[in-house]
Amino acid sequence: MKNVAVIGSGTMGNGIAHVFAQKGYKVALIDISQSALDKGVATITKNLDRMIAKEKISEADKSATLGNITTFTDMKEGVKDVQLVVEAATENVDLKLKIFRDLSEATSDDVILASNTSSISITQIAAVTNRPDKVIGMHFMNPVPVMKLVEIIRGYSTSDEVTNLIMETSKKLGKVPVEVNDYPGFVANRILMPMINEAIITLHEGVAGVEEIDTVMKLGMAHPMGPLQLADFIGLDVCLAIMNVLYEGFGNPKYAPCPLLVNMVTAGKRGVKSGEGFYSWTHGTKDLIVSDNFKK
Ligand SMILES: NC(=O)c1ccc[n+]([C@@H]2O[C@H](COP(=O)([O-])OP(=O)(O)OC[C@H]3O[C@@H](n4cnc5c(N)ncnc54)[C@H](O)[C@@H]3O)[C@@H](O)[C@H]2O)c1
Repeated sequence: MKNVAVIGSGTMGNGIAHVFAQKGYKVALIDISQSALDKGVATITKNLDRMIAKEKISEADKSATLGNITTFTDMKEGVKDVQLVVEAATENVDLKLKIFRDLSEATSDDVILASNTSSISITQIAAVTNRPDKVIGMHFMNPVPVMKLVEIIRGYSTSDEVTNLIMETSKKLGKVPVEVNDYPGFVANRILMPMINEAIITLHEGVAGVEEIDTVMKLGMAHPMGPLQLADFIGLDVCLAIMNVLYEGFGNPKYAPCPLLVNMVTAGKRGVKSGEGFYSWTHGTKDLIVSDNFKK
């Protein structure tokens, strides 16, 4: 496997393109938006410069990495001659099903189709293609160049051969792959999101304030950041969408999203990306200032 296409040049897509290109794969980075592609390449360049400053790579590594990436706004053009596609487009079921239907037509039968989805069923995505045995989840973590884990999700029909190949490919990227089966939230979000939701319920019930909850989890459980701060980073809309996947997927009330989370998303308070969530981010992401709504 030498040629890879990455669909979506946002937060995750540019990171995925970066790690493949740095390991010598030829990468076609595809997005419907030219400005997203430009921003993606600018982010990769900035991250490579940071690695040079830390003396982790040389200038030559940087040019080789950037030289391995070609951008496309036309998906059919971009996926010509690739052996693997990693889809990292916006988290929306209908959009992903359309992309996989199109990929099924645009690529030959032996091309492996992977998705970086955080929560959508790989089995459902695979079912719209002509090769469900070659569809698999490759769930990278953010920021991709830094985080070691790749959660490898086997859909109902994913073959052993494809799973093994993707496990090996992830290792070649310097990552640690972990194989899991396709059930709502996989493993990462099935455990993480209910913890975040429970932190929001704890706040909603007035058990403790924002800083107190985050401090308990940081200093008591050695988490690098508290669950409410993490929710702001992930995006409260994303947290809500994943809780709904768990709630609907298992039909179990223990996964019901906290009404406070629902209210905040409805009010447009989505965390860092909207400037406010549990904390106020209008001053940047360095200092933690509790949002006025949660000040005592
Ligand atoms: N952000 C995270 O922390 C994180 C972590 C793990 C997995 N994920 C998953 O990764 C995927 C991407 O998330 P993101 O945070 O990078 O989103 P993002 O919004 O930053 O980027 C999505 C990109 O997809 C592009 N896009 C939309 N439709 C497209 C199409 N038809 N063809 C090509 N490109 C298209 C958009 O223009 C945008 O540039 C989602 O499935 C998400 O669940 C995200």
